[in-house]
Amino acid sequence: MAYTVPKLDDYSPQALDRAAAELLRALETESAAVTNDSDWKTFRDRWMARKNGILTQLNDGWLKAAPGPQKRAVGQKVNELKARVEESVVATEKRLKGGADLSAESLDVTLPGTRRPLGAEHPITRTMNDIVRVFQHMGYSIAEGPEIETDYYNFESLNFPPNHPARDMQDTIFIAGQETKAPRDRLLLRTHTSPVQIRTMEKQKPPVRVVIPGRVYRNDAPDATHSPMFHQVEGLAVDTNITFRDLKGSLDHAMKELFGSSVKTRFRPSFFPFTEPSAEVLMSCIFCGGGGYQGTQRCPNCKTSGWIEMLGAGMVDPALYGFVGYDPQKVSGFAFGMGVDRLAAMLYGVPDLQLFFSGDVRFFEQFA
Ligand code: PHE
Repeated sequence: MAYTVPKLDDYSPQALDRAAAELLRALETESAAVTNDSDWKTFRDRWMARKNGILTQLNDGWLKAAPGPQKRAVGQKVNELKARVEESVVATEKRLKGGADLSAESLDVTLPGTRRPLGAEHPITRTMNDIVRVFQHMGYSIAEGPEIETDYYNFESLNFPPNHPARDMQDTIFIAGQETKAPRDRLLLRTHTSPVQIRTMEKQKPPVRVVIPGRVYRNDAPDATHSPMFHQVEGLAVDTNITFRDLKGSLDHAMKELFGSSVKTRFRPSFFPFTEPSAEVLMSCIFCGGGGYQGTQRCPNCKTSGWIEMLGAGMVDPALYGFVGYDPQKVSGFAFGMGVDRLAAMLYGVPDLQLFFSGDVRFFEQFA
């Protein structure tokens, strides 16, 4: 039987409490029976509708009808019940919205868990680490330097005098607002990792053997084979009696370690202001074996030449030792630098360098 508000004949506190308890039991039962939105609206209106809702009936049937001396106690009780009814209506709605019908919710422990995707090294980082590791095994330690460099470290101390045309080889990105500084103190984004050669020699006495991985910047428009930000691995060895043979042997060994013992290397003359003599180092093409063709197909990696350009290198120009306080009569050394990005693109068959810097997970997932 649905609850109806009884008429009170007895306004004693005990009678009031009994009537209130009966009402609250009804409230609870009806709240529990609400299972959907339309139930809830009916429930809300039955209890709270201004016109003839149960609360209104309490007001009229209990409070207004109460004799003078009891009005106060009845008023308090009715207010209390009003608060309980409002709470119950709100709580019932919350229960529906939360869908928290716990009896229907069960835990299936046989379902597979939530797998979190594993991260992976960026292919460029991986290539860079592979190169660095080969030189570490040859006794080199790792050195790093700042990407925002001074003109002095990026150019002047590497034997590029101010206004020397050799600076044109590297399209440089300068930091704005440096005009009030002395030219050698002006800041730029380093165009190569070679400034770390100077920074290393300033910090330590010979013998030096360091391998220097890092990011470098040039003012090149991005396309399939260019990026204004790219990566290099530099090397520097300075000691007594280091000769060009050491340079050739070390780089030949490193290429064989990286690409397999059947690769050959070839050196041809080049120019860098900070090495003398300077060389470009080529490696027999790892895709066509040096023949220039894959079957009858032209090898796209070496463009049929059979050789791939891998490094710039040379004997450290003695002029550099003057900048760092080494005695050019006592020491000699070699340096080399290689680009990482194009190599990584070639190794992983990536047709466009921009993909490396796109941040597109679909691309990177292939390397995980
Ligand atoms: N720094 C040169 C470049 O970026 C490469 C290089 C490094 C050449 C060391 C010789 C010795 O082109």
